Amino acid sequence: MAGKVVVEISETPHPDVEVSGQASAEGPEELVRFENVGLRYGIGPEILRDLDFSIESHSFQFLTGPSGAGKTTLLKLILQTLRPTRGRVTLFGQSVGSISKAELAHLRRRVGIVFQDFRLLDHLTTYENVALPLVVQGREEASYRAEVIELLKWVGLGDRMHVPPVILSGGEKQRAAIARALIVQPRLLLADEPTGNVDPSLARRLLRLFIELNHTGTAVVLATHDLQLMDLVDARRMVLAEGHLHIYE
Ligand SMILES: Nc1ncnc2c1ncn2[C@@H]1O[C@H](COP(=O)(O)OP(=O)(O)OP(=O)(O)O)[C@@H](O)[C@H]1O
Ligand SMILES: [Mg+2]
Repeated sequence: MAGKVVVEISETPHPDVEVSGQASAEGPEELVRFENVGLRYGIGPEILRDLDFSIESHSFQFLTGPSGAGKTTLLKLILQTLRPTRGRVTLFGQSVGSISKAELAHLRRRVGIVFQDFRLLDHLTTYENVALPLVVQGREEASYRAEVIELLKWVGLGDRMHVPPVILSGGEKQRAAIARALIVQPRLLLADEPTGNVDPSLARRLLRLFIELNHTGTAVVLATHDLQLMDLVDARRMVLAEGHLHIYE
C-alpha cells in the first residue's frame, strides 16, 4: 500500500540492489502481453514492428532507445490509450477490443502513469493534484487525506503540498507527478522519462524510490535515455531501435 510505505531515500543508491525476482508463492503473473504488435500513426510508416514480449508482476525494467524511437508510444499501447494497428495487446489478461469502456477504466485504475510532460493541473494545489485520482474514484477526503500527505512527504514535498504546481521547480513537479501515479497503489507503474528534468543526484534518488516501490510489489517500467542511470541497476532492458524491440534480461 503506497500510503503505508515508509522509505528513507538515501543519497546514493546501492548499485548491487536486487530489483526483480520478487515472485510470489504462486509465481509471477503476466500483467502485459504484446503479440506481434505493429503501430503506425495515420498513413505513416510503422514505427513499432513485430513486438512480442510480456511484463510480469513484481518485475522492474528499463525502456530505452533514442528520442523518437517510440518509448512513449509503447507506454500508450500498454495503457491502451492507443490501439495497435496490428497484433494484440493485453493488460491484466484483457484486451481493449474485447471489453467495455467501464471495464477498461477499471483496468487502468491499477496502472500508475508518470507522463513525460507531468500533466499537473495549475488550478489545483499539489496536494489536490496528487489526490485527484482518488477524487475521481469517488473517495471521501477523510478516507485518503493522511495517505496523500504521507506520500507527499515520502517524495520530499511535505512542505510544498499547498502550493499550485506552477510555482514548483522542474524536479518538484516531477515528484508531484510520481506521487499522483503512486497514490492509486498501482500494480504496474509506467514512468515516462521520470528523471528527465532533474539533476543527476535527484535522478538517483528518484531511481531509488522506484526500486523501493518495486520491492513493495509494484511492477515498474521506467522509460529513460539515461545510460548512467541504467548502469546503476542490474535490471531488464527493453531497447527500441528502428521499430524493433530488443530485450536484454
Ligand atoms: N500522435 C502522433 N501522430 C503522428 N506521429 C507521432 C505521434 N506521436 C508520436 N509520433 C511519432 O512517432 C515516433 C515515436 O514517438 P514517441 O513519442 O513514441 O518517441 P519517444 O521514444 O518517446 O521519444 P522521446 O525520447 O523524444 O520522448 C516519432 O517519430 C514521433 O514523431
Ligand atoms: Mg517520449
